[in-house]
Amino acid sequence: MLSFHTIQETRDALNLVRQKGKTVALVPTMGNLHQGHLRLIETARKNADYIAVSIFVNPIQFGPNEDFDAYPRTLEQDSEKLIAQGTDLLFAPSAAEMYPYGLEDQIRVGTPEIANTLCGADRPDHFSGVTTVVSKLFNIIQPDIAVFGEKDYQQLAVVKKMVMDLCFPIKVVSMPTIREASGLALSSRNGNLRATDAEIAPLLHQTLNTYKNIILTGQRNYVELEKEATQILEKNGFKVDYFSVCNQRSLTKASSRQRDLVILVAAKLGTVRLIDNIAFSV
Ligand code: PAJ
Repeated sequence: MLSFHTIQETRDALNLVRQKGKTVALVPTMGNLHQGHLRLIETARKNADYIAVSIFVNPIQFGPNEDFDAYPRTLEQDSEKLIAQGTDLLFAPSAAEMYPYGLEDQIRVGTPEIANTLCGADRPDHFSGVTTVVSKLFNIIQPDIAVFGEKDYQQLAVVKKMVMDLCFPIKVVSMPTIREASGLALSSRNGNLRATDAEIAPLLHQTLNTYKNIILTGQRNYVELEKEATQILEKNGFKVDYFSVCNQRSLTKASSRQRDLVILVAAKLGTVRLIDNIAFSV
């Protein structure tokens, strides 16, 4: 596996790859790789000849009081996993390489309404941080395809819209969420949970499932169901940012007539913020 910290070396290597007529897939990550990330890489492998993975904990997608400093950084172990997975190229830049003129002065990719709800409401600059870094990674790697996880449902929607609206010649491929046996979605943040919170964490997915099933029985009072689910989670120790029944396309609150739904949840256990979702049709 080639491994680079600089944009120039990465570009030079990828130019040679493209000259040979190979297609390139990018899997953008913030590292601390788990089985969820590795499955994205497997999917990338099925869709392209050459697999590039980026590892970059992107400072501009974290708010001032968020866990940027506590975010796990495990580049050495990650590299080993990537080699075992057959990754061709790792791009792991520093913040200075990605933002040489500082964070404040960086031009940002603006985001539409779909980025203002849910996580965007709680984390105002988060999605423009994501669109900005993903655009930069797309321009550096120039992949034919890019693979993202459905675990970050809103992020996937924002990235797909950005690719369409800004005419990136890139196919976005998505992958279902990989979970522990308990149902807990794998996340780099799970390792920061206190032992007692780790026991409670699977309730997040269980509650999504419970309310999916309640809706499938025909209940349509989503405001009431959201309130109920929030209370259950809070009683068990979560601090809920949102538990929201939405329209799959627009991510606005679902009306009782809509058929393609997704329930999205974000909740904190201690200082760790977890997100999950479940999509289904009624
Ligand atoms: P990160 O949280 O490292 O996630 C990288 C990719 O892995 C994302 O597409 C995410 O949806 C996917 N992923 C995470 N957990 C998953 C799971 N349990 N199952 C399936 N896929 C999973 O998302 C980011 O990084 C950043 O915002 C990034 C896109 C890299 C921009 O900085």
